[in-house]
Amino acid sequence: MSQPLITLDFLDIPTLPTPAADATTHAHEPSGEVRVNPATRTGRSRKLYMESYGCQMNFSDSEIVSSILFNEGFDTTEDLAGADLVLLNTCSIREKAEQTVRMRLKQINSHKKRNPAMLVGVLGCMAERLKSKFLEEEKLVDLVVGPDAYRDLPQLIQQVDGGQKAVNVLLSREETYADITPVRLNSNGITAFISIMRGCDNMCSFCVVPFTRGRERSRDAHSIVHEAEALVAQGYKEVTLLGQNVDSYKWASADGLEQVNFAQLLERVANISPELRVRFSTSHPKDITDEVLFTMARHENICKYIHLPAQSGNSRVLALMNRTYDRPWYEERVQAIRRILGDDCAISTDMISGFCSETEEEHQDTLTLIDFVQYDMGYNFFYSERPGTLAARKLEDDVPLEIKKRRLQEVIDRQQLHARARYARMVGRVHRVLVEGRSKRSEEQMSGRNSQNQVVIFPKGTARKGDYVNVLVTNTTGAALLGELVD
Ligand code: SAH
Ligand code: SF4
Ligand code: F3S
Repeated sequence: MSQPLITLDFLDIPTLPTPAADATTHAHEPSGEVRVNPATRTGRSRKLYMESYGCQMNFSDSEIVSSILFNEGFDTTEDLAGADLVLLNTCSIREKAEQTVRMRLKQINSHKKRNPAMLVGVLGCMAERLKSKFLEEEKLVDLVVGPDAYRDLPQLIQQVDGGQKAVNVLLSREETYADITPVRLNSNGITAFISIMRGCDNMCSFCVVPFTRGRERSRDAHSIVHEAEALVAQGYKEVTLLGQNVDSYKWASADGLEQVNFAQLLERVANISPELRVRFSTSHPKDITDEVLFTMARHENICKYIHLPAQSGNSRVLALMNRTYDRPWYEERVQAIRRILGDDCAISTDMISGFCSETEEEHQDTLTLIDFVQYDMGYNFFYSERPGTLAARKLEDDVPLEIKKRRLQEVIDRQQLHARARYARMVGRVHRVLVEGRSKRSEEQMSGRNSQNQVVIFPKGTARKGDYVNVLVTNTTGAALLGELVD
């Protein structure tokens, strides 16, 4: 049974298998995964069907939206055909992400034809990017709401109930939804995500996020700590602090007397309980400080895993990408991680292949950076031009698709070589594992993760979901560790 938060503890929410079960999850990755809010059955009069695309930030927002609409008399349903309101929380990061949503809208249209009373809303980054144009392009859409306007949903739905179309895509400099208790609909009851900031001020030239999510703002540190404490009180064992660039977290009290940076926030959350694991994502290489690394080193319960997207291994390309660091800087940050946290700290990256004007030699530099870092994991993409971004306005998307795809495959292959080696070096050692549930492979096996975020699978013995256990790893599949319980 998953554990919804206090205000909603009468909800009958079924436990869902989480992607964490047998696959390594990644807090910030637009994974192509689609999440459907599981059904709630509390006798509320209207039924909301909600699908979420994109990154964890979007999934986290969907929990906030569910909370707002629950208070407005909506139960969630998994039955699209029977829904009164259908919401898609969308992603714009690459063209393919948007195409997926367009296709889905076509399918929803056929449901709407059979059930004309069904209202259809588009939320999230695509709503923000296209604004009221969405209503012209997709006639079935009644409601378009950007990521900073979810508080306005009740009023917007009233407007749609009254027969009008409704749009609110205002971005805010303040909104953090700090006071809204998310409904942990997709939770396994053990691990949860906490948004600590919103927006992004970085303006990487390829990226649509600053346009869809607006200016960077940090959430009140006390509300973050309270949310984590409430989760601990309900039996949660792991929180992941989320933001596009967590290392630039910066919050000050209204009187300015209290100031909290990311390292200090991390420490506050880690101090809540030694039984609570703390993860975070994403770290921007330009901002990750030694103070953060030393804080990680001081607290066993801060997991030794850093997602540090490089995007490219070539300094000229990095400059074109407006990443504001070069290769030597990135390498130095990796060396700092190794120096302060040791070789066991896992590092992952995002890489973009075939960015504007990238040459074959520059692509080779990405491969040599992968060799230098020996990443544990990589999330790799080929470049997809996004309208309105700096790159779309100033640079030519001139690497042919076939070449982008070939380079991407080389990046993936090189990356997997190192990932396998990183898994292999864990064999023969005992790992402290937080058990997240049954393995998808077998009823007799349990699955959890070690501090490095590697999946560990073992015969269940007496282990229960939510336990910390010691597992002697005896083998690896290259994508998971296999082992047995030891004392
Ligand atoms: N804030 C994070 C990135 C969030 S977007 C950071 O700065 O690292 C997640 C990933 O999507 C990016 O790291 C990048 O690798 C990829 N991405 C973003 N825009 C893209 C584009 N236009 N084409 C291809 N990949 C893109
Ligand atoms: Fe996009 Fe760059 Fe911001 Fe990441 S840091 S969200 S890649 S603009
Ligand atoms: Fe996330 Fe996609 Fe928006 S990656 S921030 S949902 S563009």
